[in-house]
Amino acid sequence: EKYDFGLIGLGVMGKNFILNVADHGFSALGYDLDQGKVEGLIEEAGNDKVSATTDADTFLAGLKRPRKIMLLVPAGKPVDAVIESLRPKLDEGDIIIDGGNSFYTDTDRRFESLAKDKIHFFGAGVSGGAKGARVGPSIMPGGNKEAYEHIRPIFEAASAKVNGEPCVAHLGNGSAGNYVKMVHNGIEYGLMQLISEVYDIMKHGLRMSNVEMKATFEAWNQAELGSFLTEITADILGVPDDLETGALVDAILDKAKQKGTGKWTSQNAMDLGVPIPTVDAAVRMREISSFKSMRVEAAKLYTLPMAERADLSTDELKAALYTSFIVTYAQGLHQLSEASKEYNYDLNLEVIAKIWRGGCIIRAKFLEEIRKAYSFNKSLQHLLLNEQIAELVKTNLPHLAKVCAEGMRLGLPVSALAASLNYFNAFKAERLPLNLIQAQRDYFGSHTYERLDRPGIFHTEWEA
Ligand code: 6PG
Repeated sequence: EKYDFGLIGLGVMGKNFILNVADHGFSALGYDLDQGKVEGLIEEAGNDKVSATTDADTFLAGLKRPRKIMLLVPAGKPVDAVIESLRPKLDEGDIIIDGGNSFYTDTDRRFESLAKDKIHFFGAGVSGGAKGARVGPSIMPGGNKEAYEHIRPIFEAASAKVNGEPCVAHLGNGSAGNYVKMVHNGIEYGLMQLISEVYDIMKHGLRMSNVEMKATFEAWNQAELGSFLTEITADILGVPDDLETGALVDAILDKAKQKGTGKWTSQNAMDLGVPIPTVDAAVRMREISSFKSMRVEAAKLYTLPMAERADLSTDELKAALYTSFIVTYAQGLHQLSEASKEYNYDLNLEVIAKIWRGGCIIRAKFLEEIRKAYSFNKSLQHLLLNEQIAELVKTNLPHLAKVCAEGMRLGLPVSALAASLNYFNAFKAERLPLNLIQAQRDYFGSHTYERLDRPGIFHTEWEA
């Protein structure tokens, strides 16, 4: 009896995903060079739906045709190495699914190369961490639509469900799935940075204790700010460190690492000419955080008098965070809609909002509002142009402005909050002062300008 599904890379994600697939009635075979991981999986599964091997030929011979082989190995060279080792042994119609955070152009290259041998290749972002992989992640596959039908039943069964609907869908052509996952991670960076800025204001501006902050995030999580990241923030604030002298979070070094997906999102947004300043700010803050020793030195040099308390309520902070969350999703979705045109992905933003409602790191109650906005108007150009969303933003915006102002008055870095506010203020401005920039360009470089009152291209000899 052959297996329905094959998985290469039995690290935590791979092991958990294969167990998840088997929970839903599919048989699955794992492959890893590490004997310990192979034995660990067989032991943990404890049933004949799951097996594993360290031998590539046994693995390939054990799978039903067309073979459905998912890779959960680190992005980059390991993915190419696995593909090249399998390739001579695969048959026409076989399917390889890369479940890692691969860069989208790598996915396009692999897709085209494997297509020459009539092997289908999918880039499928998987979000939700180790637990998500075990109990139901959000899965973002892109690739050949017909071939997707072979993997659809397995992915739909293994994915998270919201109101019974699976958090997975065929998202588009070629590297569409990896691209969507990349932007998902960019939004993730933005939301995490926004939460950390609000935490900073709570801690240093309002002098709230960890217990008070935990209770506040817990309460927020019950209402419109309900989201995975709000929830885990409350959890984190309640975990004591091993010396029981305080919360563990206070003992953690304040240098944030990154594996690149947020930076890629920002870099690609700039290539496309799509502004996503909240994500940019989040990447920048991780960079600034990494220069810890310089910061320590600068802190000694710039001992400025710290303002007294922030004049803010937690309700105002909640409204500010909510508004900036909305703006962050709006930026990411705008990037997706422009990328879809540029790369012919044929993305459906309603479907993307739908599969982000559960399983993934950026899952949030608010995603249902986003889904509705794109369902109401399939060709909505920008989330902030939807009337219901506009009402939400209008109600909460004054609080975001006040929170930014207070944060700045206290000398706290509020880069992502301010980036969200400034983005919004620019986005909704009928007139921006960029007329002056056009005049300056024409002044020093004869770059010409257009006029508001009549058509044509103009140049002026500005100097008298
Ligand atoms: C997810 C996460 C996952 C991973 C991030 C972390 O959706 O499950 O995004 O993919 O945890 O890549 O990224 P950084 O290490 O760059 O913070």
